[in-house]
Amino acid sequence: MPAKLSSATLVGLNVSLVEVEVDIDKKSVIHDVDIVGLGDTAVKESKKRIKSALKNSGFDFPHGKIVVNLAPADLKKEGSLLDLPMAMGILQACGHLNECDFLCVGELSLDGHIRKVKGVLTILAQLSKEGFSKPIVVPKENETEAKMVKNLKVFCFEHIKELVEFMNGLVKYEPVKFEGLPPFSYDEDVDFADVKGQTLAKRALEVAAAGAHNVLMKGSPGAGKTMLARRICTILPPLSDEEALEVLTIYSAVGQADIKKLSRPFRAPHHTASTVAIIGGGNDARPGEISLAHNGVLFLDEFPEFRRDVIEALRQPLEEGFVTVARAKTTVTYPSRFMLVAAMNPCPCGNYGDPKAVCNCSPYDIVRYNKKVSGPILDRIDILVQLPRLEPEEYFSKNSSEKSERIRERVIKAREIQKRRYREIGISTNSQLNAKLIKRFVQLDEKTEELLKLTVSRYNLSARSIDKILKVARTIADLEGSEALNYKHVAEAIQYKLQQE
Ligand SMILES: Nc1ncnc2c1ncn2[C@@H]1O[C@H](COP(=O)(O)OP(=O)(O)O)[C@@H](O)[C@H]1O
Ligand SMILES: [Mg+2]
Repeated sequence: MPAKLSSATLVGLNVSLVEVEVDIDKKSVIHDVDIVGLGDTAVKESKKRIKSALKNSGFDFPHGKIVVNLAPADLKKEGSLLDLPMAMGILQACGHLNECDFLCVGELSLDGHIRKVKGVLTILAQLSKEGFSKPIVVPKENETEAKMVKNLKVFCFEHIKELVEFMNGLVKYEPVKFEGLPPFSYDEDVDFADVKGQTLAKRALEVAAAGAHNVLMKGSPGAGKTMLARRICTILPPLSDEEALEVLTIYSAVGQADIKKLSRPFRAPHHTASTVAIIGGGNDARPGEISLAHNGVLFLDEFPEFRRDVIEALRQPLEEGFVTVARAKTTVTYPSRFMLVAAMNPCPCGNYGDPKAVCNCSPYDIVRYNKKVSGPILDRIDILVQLPRLEPEEYFSKNSSEKSERIRERVIKAREIQKRRYREIGISTNSQLNAKLIKRFVQLDEKTEELLKLTVSRYNLSARSIDKILKVARTIADLEGSEALNYKHVAEAIQYKLQQE
């Protein structure tokens, strides 16, 4: 009878169960290990690791022909996490291990140590959802992730020898204790109060945070754009458990879930980053910055300096909240619902429009620079705000600014109102309203409609621009706790739009 064990494999964030079957033909004159079942290079290489790991752990490697079958045969298996189940299968087939039914994942080092693998939390979260009841074994180095998932019986081991002794009933180990997700915390080192002046920009960011609107800050160098962007997470609500788990499963898939404290993701890739690094993909179809920023903030500083194809490729994920990356024969989907915060200078030298500085860019340079962020991508940015250069009086002013915590309280209240209002239609923020929903949830009184009409005809605004004004106005009213939209709300929203024209 062939030995049988369970394991799992990960493609993107999709977990599939894998049955590992091992059969040994001891009479065969050929001594070899044959791994069948669509394994990638790492899987094919594992036979060398397994051979050394078993020998160096004091087990004789069986003679004869060994066939390892990874079922289902039509599913691609990836990575080194199948090392451990294959080794355990071989030990079971040659009688070193009692027959026992469990699921394991882990990479083996040549001396038999069980090494950390990517995606343990992703796998465990999925198994927990499915009500998986068999014992599960994961590497000791992945213990932090194992403690985050409830309703599973997970054991952590450092060495293959310990695992065999445990499975043979020679020693006792306890399953890991469920501890829950790491506690959420805010970065105490940064605060909105550190930023002097820039009242308008701060207000715009508060509105953006309240409705999860994408925002573009434009202003001369040194005005505080980068500084403000780095503080946005301090005014966003804490992650809900569901959001936190989504974030952690993505982090687990790239091997970064081993954390003690959790905060909202803030990703700030450099403008020289490749499309694959930002959008995701490559040989192993890994998630990009936009997915690592899921449920958090993607900050693109010096926005026009980003490669054009990167800016173009942001459109679909911004619209849909997920991204599909292509890879050989299949595609992988990752969530990517992030708040885009972009910053740019008004021109290449940064002085255009500054009354106290001389701009030495040609008109052509200025137009070309600004054109890079025009059209489709600008359509997805609801709020634009200009930051003037900081005046010396403002910089040296002794007046203290409002702390992040106070701003955050207002943002949280506004978000709760939105959540309640949209509970039944499956969205949670005003930024997700489409044209149809805007008609349903944003109604104007006569005077306000008149103001909007006037602005539209004066500035020749498109229907899309009107929608954006209405969405942002909805958020401004929500910040005030007002269900009805008034003149003031719309006037402020218009101001964030007109700066784009
Ligand atoms: N509004 C401000 N309040 C306090 N310090 C500021 C402000 N704006 C700029 N600074 C100082 O100038 C430095 C550069 O600001 P930065 O945010 O990088 O500007 P920008 O990104 O607009 O070019 C900051 O690290 C900070 O020390
Ligand atoms: Mg900057």
